[in-house]
Amino acid sequence: MRLFFLLARKYPLQTVFMLISLLVAGLLEGFGLSMLLPLLSFAIPQQAGEQVTQTAMASSKLEMLVTDLFAFLNLTPSIENILIVILISVILKSAIIIVSRRQTGYTVARIATDLRLELLRSMIAAKWEYYLHERIGAHNSAMLNETKRSSDAFRLGVQMAADSLEAVAFLVAAFLVSAEASLAAMGCSLIVFLLLRRYLRKVRKTGQQQTNLRRELLASMIDLFQSFKSLKAMAREELADYLLEKTTYSLQKVQQKQVMTQGMLKALQEPLATIFLAVGIYVTLVYWHIPLSNMIVMLFLISRVIKQVTKVQERYSEIIIQESAYWSLQKTIRNLNKHREVSSGVEIPSLKKLISLEDVNFSYGKSRILKNVHIRFPVGQITAVVGASGSGKTTILDLVVGLISPQEGEVCIDGVPLQRIDLKRWRQMIGYVPQETILLHDTIFNNVTLGEKNLKKEDALTALQAAGALEFVNELPKGIDHIVGERGGKLSGGQKQRISIARALVHRPALIVFDEATSALDPASEEAVCETMRSLRKHHTIIAISHQTALLKCADQAYAIQNGVAEQIHPTDGNRLISKATNGI
Ligand SMILES: Nc1ncnc2c1ncn2[C@@H]1O[C@H](COP(=O)(O)OP(=O)(O)O)[C@@H](O)[C@H]1O
Ligand SMILES: [Mg+2]
Repeated sequence: MRLFFLLARKYPLQTVFMLISLLVAGLLEGFGLSMLLPLLSFAIPQQAGEQVTQTAMASSKLEMLVTDLFAFLNLTPSIENILIVILISVILKSAIIIVSRRQTGYTVARIATDLRLELLRSMIAAKWEYYLHERIGAHNSAMLNETKRSSDAFRLGVQMAADSLEAVAFLVAAFLVSAEASLAAMGCSLIVFLLLRRYLRKVRKTGQQQTNLRRELLASMIDLFQSFKSLKAMAREELADYLLEKTTYSLQKVQQKQVMTQGMLKALQEPLATIFLAVGIYVTLVYWHIPLSNMIVMLFLISRVIKQVTKVQERYSEIIIQESAYWSLQKTIRNLNKHREVSSGVEIPSLKKLISLEDVNFSYGKSRILKNVHIRFPVGQITAVVGASGSGKTTILDLVVGLISPQEGEVCIDGVPLQRIDLKRWRQMIGYVPQETILLHDTIFNNVTLGEKNLKKEDALTALQAAGALEFVNELPKGIDHIVGERGGKLSGGQKQRISIARALVHRPALIVFDEATSALDPASEEAVCETMRSLRKHHTIIAISHQTALLKCADQAYAIQNGVAEQIHPTDGNRLISKATNGI
């Protein structure tokens, strides 16, 4: 319920509107039902032996109120008139309920959207390092399931509030008939609620378990299907079945437990309520000598109160199942915000002379990756960094891009430390060609421009040309509008890599970094990329890292990394040094 109040505070106007309209609807319902009493007085002649005065006047406050109302409206409380009033109040109630349902629908959708956007923005703002430790699939579950379940919890909360208001309306009507009997009914409802509390606790637990299992299922599914090709190729796809089946069955067990507990809750409520009702009837009939017409209305009202209370409890159990999703979602958002990328730097970067790593030390946890590294990447040149795999080449690029920061030393752009520079602006000047090319399931055009509005078809074609991709793109059935398949599966490794190079070039960056960008290419294509790099050098600065020495051929200067130490080498010396460095791979 905490969630309902929390969201009610966030969307106060909508909540107040919904509650007021539901309250009016509830009151109208109570009012319509109050009319039953005078109706019954007409139908059932009063019992013999009752005092004449009492019969003549009215046997309860409710009946008096109704009689007063008719007098006020200048109507005779005839059967026809009473029936008409009942009909009008029912129609009015339905109309109000339609309006409030519409409002609820809008608000629930808005809450889900707001939560989705909040999650999305936090995800986008988080540091790259965050994603090295967290499972992306869990975020998918948060985005789809948890936002939906949270907004459902709010919808259920509104319905629960409406049911409670309706119960109150019946109770007020019942009070006007007999205060004692109503108090007794309230007491009974409270006892039923307290007796069934432990089932509610169980339901809450199953809700939390479901949230966790759903996350697990989606995360494992995404993980496994990303390597589905190799699983299939080695006939290990049953492994996916086994791993996912386990979670699916756990989810089934929890769902069964939840349904059972909820069923139990529902099943126990009715006999309990009936027992109390039976006792109530006995007491009112035998001890309190309430007139029969009042008695019937009373019974009706109290059974409705009990039914509403039952409904409230049911809704409550549903809310606590869905609510767990909201708390999980909030935890994820909080965690993301904790890892928000903050760029304290404000200086606008200018890349006129060089990028330099000055006495840089970098460790992942306890393992030291780079030791007192000095590297200079001069503007307008191709600098190659070569070394065995795992030697720290990608780490160097991540430092230059500012995805990670050194524990000691500085990364400088034209002598200005990266901490002082506006990171976003710096990265806007970079074209990044990653080691693994994962394309979007979209057209080549969109893969190159990434949907950036001010990039036109000509820009994409120029970039494809520069990346040496235009020839094969033109041969595709739809050319630049060809859809590349899931993660680019309909293209060869080398073709994907060239699309990825075009993506890095299209916004005309000052610096282009290639992370093993030629590793998936055959010698001829590699030569072509080298040629591309050389032609790009006129306008761009290039850093190319590789565990192969082929890149050295087109480099202006080179560094070799070994045991965390960077050593400048002459590009033509590469083969000798690198054969030493890459020994064993
Ligand atoms: N996020 C990380 N957390 C811990 N260790 C890492 C992380 N990323 C890379 N490493 C380790 O750092 C070393 C250098 O990695 P990397 O720079 O990617 O090497 P490469 O030269 O192949 O590009 C490797 O031993 C790798 O296992
Ligand atoms: Mg690498």
